[in-house]
Amino acid sequence: MDTSYLNSDIKHIAFIMDGNGRWAKQRNLPRTEGHRAGVDRINEIVDECRKLNFKVVSFYCFSTENWKRPKAEIDMLFKYLEIFFKKNIRDMIKKGIKLNISGDISRLPKKTQKVINEALEKTKDLQDMVFNVCLNYSGREEIVKICRDFANDAIKNPEIINDINVDYLRKYTYIGELPDIDLLIRTSGEERISNFMLFNLAYSEFIFNKLYWPDYTVDALHEDIIKFMKRTRRYGGLTDEKEE
Ligand code: IPE
Ligand code: IPE
Ligand code: MG
Repeated sequence: MDTSYLNSDIKHIAFIMDGNGRWAKQRNLPRTEGHRAGVDRINEIVDECRKLNFKVVSFYCFSTENWKRPKAEIDMLFKYLEIFFKKNIRDMIKKGIKLNISGDISRLPKKTQKVINEALEKTKDLQDMVFNVCLNYSGREEIVKICRDFANDAIKNPEIINDINVDYLRKYTYIGELPDIDLLIRTSGEERISNFMLFNLAYSEFIFNKLYWPDYTVDALHEDIIKFMKRTRRYGGLTDEKEE
């Protein structure tokens, strides 16, 4: 399919994949079936993002707040993610997709950690696109991590305190020096960011799509990109017309 009309300058797109539970409820299914269907959508969307030449695609899969949910639901979600990585790792390698994890995975089930660590190792040198998966992730905790890591380095080398600025601190984020998020899409109709990537969202465009995540298709993505392309990003400045 010719998608040249979707030439958007997006370098980094991020998804808050919300609405799995409501999708299941709508069908009289257990919430976990929503997670199964939700995890199943990821691959096609990642693939399309790669075809559209985006450099980074981020997915919010599990927040630090999601530990409040019933253990049975959490266990199944990690199981589906584990299956996802096992199933897709070969394809990711073939397509040059590098995995990055944002968040502390040491609290995840051992089996899930193992599969993720293998995928990290096997894809570490790939360069076509970065697939950033946010797991046990919190935007505020990430800011705490930035401070902690910087402080540890400053103890060893106090001179870096003179270098501190936004771009210096950026190196300590989970995505390092990868580009900030251009477009954030949250599905399910909720209009909040729920503690997602606070540092990298500073100047992102937001789209709140009413579809539940398991219903989010490539066509829906195309429509959202077209919406994004109609936006004017000013970064606090003026548009060209106004400057004249
Ligand atoms: C998003 O779907 C996936 C996770 C938070 C893990 P939800 O499970 O939040 O679905 P809703 O919001 O209850 O419909
Ligand atoms: C945000 O969704 C987290 C993920 C999609 C992983 P939630 O469903 O947990 O967020 P709230 O509770 O509606 O803010
Ligand atoms: Mg939700």
